[in-house]
Amino acid sequence: MTTPPLILLLSGSLRAGSSNEAVLRTAQAVAAEPPARLRTVLYDGLATLPHFNPDDDADPLPGPVAGLRAAIAGADAILVCTPEYAGTLPGSFKNLLDWTVGGTEIGDKPVGWVNAAAPGRGGGAEATLRTVLGYTGAAVVEEACVRIPVSGAMYGGDGTVADPEVRARIGEVLGVLAGWDGPDGPDHPDGSDGV
Ligand SMILES: Cc1cc2nc3c(=O)[nH]c(=O)nc-3n(C[C@H](O)[C@H](O)[C@H](O)COP(=O)(O)O)c2cc1C
Repeated sequence: MTTPPLILLLSGSLRAGSSNEAVLRTAQAVAAEPPARLRTVLYDGLATLPHFNPDDDADPLPGPVAGLRAAIAGADAILVCTPEYAGTLPGSFKNLLDWTVGGTEIGDKPVGWVNAAAPGRGGGAEATLRTVLGYTGAAVVEEACVRIPVSGAMYGGDGTVADPEVRARIGEVLGVLAGWDGPDGPDHPDGSDGV
């Protein structure tokens, strides 16, 4: 029996009660539903990362940075869910992404995101995310970059999103990321790579 793909879940919010983290916790719950065909791990080191400094991007790396890169290296794909702050990414999350640029771990790694903001919101964060991921060399999987507006009314008692349609759409995104077989794979016979 082969090991199911592992998807690393990256939240861009440090806020207790974060809606973006709730979406990722929902992804964990959806992924765990039988038949569990994939594994997820929610990265919890965002607050521990030092401010990016190129002088520190050398061996031995700061412990939290080494942890981040190990988490990325160990994952088959990455799902991001981040709020928008002042028209762009939260600084702390941009800092995380800056730490990935000097490493090789994220290169060609399939990445998608869920924009959970209200309809018409969050486009600035998405645009910045796309730009920065481009510099990291990650493989942005277009079909896994979606807008799923999530409101408080959709939550269940456990803090995850109970709304069945939202859960189904999150499940689809996970499935796309887990099954993505590269730019030249059979899903993209015309050579378009979905990026
Ligand atoms: C400092 C600050 C700036 C924000 N700027 C924007 C913005 O530019 N565009 C937007 O759509 N929402 C903006 N928001 C709203 C957040 O993106 C929104 O509340 C989001 O749900 C927070 O995510 P979280 O619940 O995961 O922490 C801002 C919120 C804060 C605190």
